[in-house]
Amino acid sequence: MFWKQLFATKSLETLQEEVKGEHRLRRALGPISLTASGVGAIIGAGIFVMTGQVAAQDAGPAVVLSFVVAGVGCLFAALCYAEFAALAPVAGSAYTYAYATLGELFAWIIGWNLVLEYAMACACVASSWSKYLNELLLILFGAELPSFLSNDPFSHEGAWFNLPALLITLAVTAILVRGIRESATTNSILVGIKLGVVLFVIFAGLAFINYKNWIDIPVAERHLPEEELIGELAAKTVEADPSYKRAAARQRIEHLKRQSLAAYKIEQRRQIAAQLAAQGASQRAQAEAQSLIAQALERYDHDLPQSDEDKNQVRQILDQARQEAPARSTERWGLLGVLGLNRWLTPIDDAVRNPFIPYGLAGIIFGAAMVFFAYIGFDAVSTQAEEAIRPQRDVPIAILASLIICTILYIGVAAVITGMVPYPDIDTERAVAAAFRQRGDLVHNPLLKGLLRGASGLISLGAIAGMTSVLLITFLGQVRIFLAMARDGLLPPSIFAAVHPRFKTPHRSTLLVGIVISLVAAFTPITMLEKMVNIGTLMAFVMVCAAVMVLRLRRPHVERPFRTPLLFVFGPLGIAVNLVMMLFLPPATWARLVVWLAVGMAIYFGYGWRHSYIGRRLSGRIPSFAFASPDGLADTHPLPSGPEAIQGVHDQIHEKK
Ligand code: ALA
Repeated sequence: MFWKQLFATKSLETLQEEVKGEHRLRRALGPISLTASGVGAIIGAGIFVMTGQVAAQDAGPAVVLSFVVAGVGCLFAALCYAEFAALAPVAGSAYTYAYATLGELFAWIIGWNLVLEYAMACACVASSWSKYLNELLLILFGAELPSFLSNDPFSHEGAWFNLPALLITLAVTAILVRGIRESATTNSILVGIKLGVVLFVIFAGLAFINYKNWIDIPVAERHLPEEELIGELAAKTVEADPSYKRAAARQRIEHLKRQSLAAYKIEQRRQIAAQLAAQGASQRAQAEAQSLIAQALERYDHDLPQSDEDKNQVRQILDQARQEAPARSTERWGLLGVLGLNRWLTPIDDAVRNPFIPYGLAGIIFGAAMVFFAYIGFDAVSTQAEEAIRPQRDVPIAILASLIICTILYIGVAAVITGMVPYPDIDTERAVAAAFRQRGDLVHNPLLKGLLRGASGLISLGAIAGMTSVLLITFLGQVRIFLAMARDGLLPPSIFAAVHPRFKTPHRSTLLVGIVISLVAAFTPITMLEKMVNIGTLMAFVMVCAAVMVLRLRRPHVERPFRTPLLFVFGPLGIAVNLVMMLFLPPATWARLVVWLAVGMAIYFGYGWRHSYIGRRLSGRIPSFAFASPDGLADTHPLPSGPEAIQGVHDQIHEKK
């Protein structure tokens, strides 16, 4: 019985009956609205924030290739999603698909990971939203919100919490509790603004591209692990000294960081020049090295430490940074580094390294695992399948169309940003708007300067609108997935399937999710969370690719309105590409995933396993009127569905007990 329940599946027929039985009147979305909704869910923090972060720190101009790799992984997964979404156009997305194929346990695991993809992604987007709010304030009023009110306390010394992130999440919660109709209209407007701004960035940015930024910046200019460590070690050095009070400590950290970085940059270039001379490199190479030293001196000389105390501390920081750097470099290889595979791969990495690919192959793929965040959301279309007029045809179209549109736009934006600003100088928090502001700072013509600053403000506004639409759709997707899980008894229906009598929205679930997201957005270090979101989503994608193949084998003759072309080629490729991206994520992210899954298991065995409708039916605790057979083949009696119906079933069950 135990194992039987863990692998029990919900039959396709049950899913299809569920679709027929509900929401008939609400089928209002055609292919264009669905695609718009997909684009609405996709374009957000990923392109507006992570492009800059990855370009500056992880991949350089080759961030464009990172977008290609991540896009390809998503395309394979999307093709698999499309087959499923056409076959069983019900809410619940990958969770539901897994329930129909891999069984209850896997369905729960995917559902639990979708919380990362949806709810936690919302928290990341809300945090990025606050960065663009600050950019807008900077353009409009010349000042930003104080740092202590716009950052999380764990990654920013002295910060309290991220107030704008908290407020925007609570506002979105209020809109969604009030009702979907309002949010659908709001969403269309927001998507329009967002698309307009992205196209503006691409076309206006074209005029300011300097192709040398793609292919001419010396590899030595890239950020090395030592630089990252310098910041951390400077903070540690100051924190270890109790004589510094809060504000003074912050200043001292900044000061020490600047000095250490200057000393490091100059020394590093001198070392390169010395090496080249020792190797008898060509005159031209040696002259280039000398010119790099001259540039570094010009840029960093005035930051070099002067007092003996400063000189000593800087020396200690640099020595320690150099010692710890090899371990930090290994981290770039993610789990592959832990397995020791980086030793085999590093020579390839070095061989491909050039000004366009300064961080090597590892940089491109790690970058892909990071910018993957930008693609999250195309599957949100599948959570709206129950509202599609012709879901079998339109949902696959919308999933693929929105993904393809976004991939093209992303490649365009990434190319423009890295062409406009030398990658080491790209702003890591609000790159797209800042690129225009930074260009404006370089020009002398006051009119052009004003126009570029105006463009930056406009882009910030578009980014804010765009991220708000991501928040709305993604949040809604989470509530729908919980609803699907509550229908199956894996979550308490009294919370996750309860519907407000007047607003007709799942108000309790929305409020609960809203409060959790807002707290996470306000207090969590967002880069850490982004990696968690990505690893959880990548895992869900891998499982969807597998699930579609399993279903093809088990139910080859079911009529499929959309068939993934070359499934047994694209499916394994989808698994491989997404798995490789997962492998490049840091060991700490894997460890957090394991903890996350363990918490999920505890909830499943503590609640879901005992309350699951399938489980109750298998154990004879409720009559077998509604649920699937363990083999997923023979179930013919549909589950009464819809939130109210579920509440009814739940009440009935409790009465029977
Ligand atoms: N793809 C969504 C974004 O980038 C999550 O904001």
